[in-house]
Amino acid sequence: MSRLVVISNRVAVPKARGAAGAQGGLAGALNAALRENRGLWFGWSGQECDVFSGNINMQRHDGVTTATIDLEPQDIEEYYNGYANSTLWPLFHYRIDLTEYEREFGKGYERVNERFAESVAPLIEPDDLVWVHDYHLMPLGERLRARGLKNRIGFFLHIPWPPARLFVSLPYHERLVRTLLDYDLIGFQTTEWLDSFLHYCRKELGAEVDEQAGTIRYDGRETVARAYPIGIDYDHFMAQGDTGEARQAQQRLMSSTRHRTAMLGVDRLDYSKGLPERLDGIGRFFDQDPDQVRKLVYIQIAPPSREDVGSYQKIRALLEQKCGQINGARSDVDIVPIRYVNKGYSTAELFGFYRGAKIGLVTPLRDGMNLVAKEYVAAQEPDDPGVLILSRFAGAAQQLQDAVLVNPHSPDDLSHAIRTALDMDLAERKARWENLVATVREDNVHAWTANFCADLRAAPTAGR
Ligand code: UDP
Ligand code: G6P
Repeated sequence: MSRLVVISNRVAVPKARGAAGAQGGLAGALNAALRENRGLWFGWSGQECDVFSGNINMQRHDGVTTATIDLEPQDIEEYYNGYANSTLWPLFHYRIDLTEYEREFGKGYERVNERFAESVAPLIEPDDLVWVHDYHLMPLGERLRARGLKNRIGFFLHIPWPPARLFVSLPYHERLVRTLLDYDLIGFQTTEWLDSFLHYCRKELGAEVDEQAGTIRYDGRETVARAYPIGIDYDHFMAQGDTGEARQAQQRLMSSTRHRTAMLGVDRLDYSKGLPERLDGIGRFFDQDPDQVRKLVYIQIAPPSREDVGSYQKIRALLEQKCGQINGARSDVDIVPIRYVNKGYSTAELFGFYRGAKIGLVTPLRDGMNLVAKEYVAAQEPDDPGVLILSRFAGAAQQLQDAVLVNPHSPDDLSHAIRTALDMDLAERKARWENLVATVREDNVHAWTANFCADLRAAPTAGR
């Protein structure tokens, strides 16, 4: 079978920047996908160098071979902090108000994609299956084709694809989409994002789109686009739950909350996760039922992320202020209703926290998928499962319809959902959980990898 070459900006190498719990769902999922394939994972080391050299650092750990390059400060500023995380990330999460359109960012993005192509191309063998990931690297396939690569090359977008009306606010939007059409297969997390992409291709590019077959004909080429909802590494995650680390974490959580019900949120500190809105909903809940301050405790784990980007500094300051306000107004000498923790935890520790929490609160304003929701479900005690409250705007909501679905913008809706979760009887909790866990177990990361790679191998390559 052909070798799999995975390319992403973030690679799960032990000492990488952001590795302390804030590296997000992509790195964990790709680590799992690669562990079972004889493959190579190429990307940024997370480290800075004075001048770009293209030197590749190869490592092998946990059964995965990684090849990483360092980037120079200007690249990190214009490509990573700039175009990727100040232009594409906010725009693709429908936050046009936070989107910055700087020419220099666009140039840096092109330059770093070319650097990735130049560095990785010599590592790719003719039979390799090449799989590029996420918004940092959309033009990479085109750059590899320009170097004569004839391999099958697929692309997966881990974040939403915005509606055409928002997307067209991006200067050179046609160019970005044309580069995507150089891939043989483009994957999205949900049919909602896929439909937005196909709609754009038909309306704005004038491409011939067959929505049933998911094919796009443009400029003499055919590209396939489909939805592949990502999942967790279920067996590996469950094995983590069976460790002393997980049990100790659960014990720590439960002994510290004593007789109070623990409600938990675990999110990278990102404005897309709806954290201030969530705190407003919790504040509303305590206002409506002040006795709950002594009965319920909310624990928010929020490891900092992308700390050099202004919008992330602002969201952090806002959260600190909101937590202070809510706690200040409701705490007593022996009671603090919200615990806000700015650090990351291991998967085993998270398993223990998830299991100790009777309510999991996952309320992003917009999210490609959200793996925390799936991990919370997987970690529950089958005989006494907790309740997942999930934003209807998370990609995961398409699959996890038995969660208590909420509008994360509405404090009343959030407050009502907390009430519903607290009042839910055991029979209903079990019935909902059994449906949820069946999906999380079946639609796991291995199924995701197998489905995408099978379609990539079978994709037409006419016109190349
Ligand atoms: N995570 C972690 N430690 C933490 C917080 C989060 O390992 O302290 C992991 C979490 O287990 C999950 C991932 O980070 O696998 C977050 O993925 P998700 O899809 O929910 O969101 P993303 O951060 O990718 O936007
Ligand atoms: C999301 C993105 C990933 C990214 C992760 C962590 O999951 O889709 O591409 O790796 O967040 O963000 P970071 O900027 O630290 O890589």
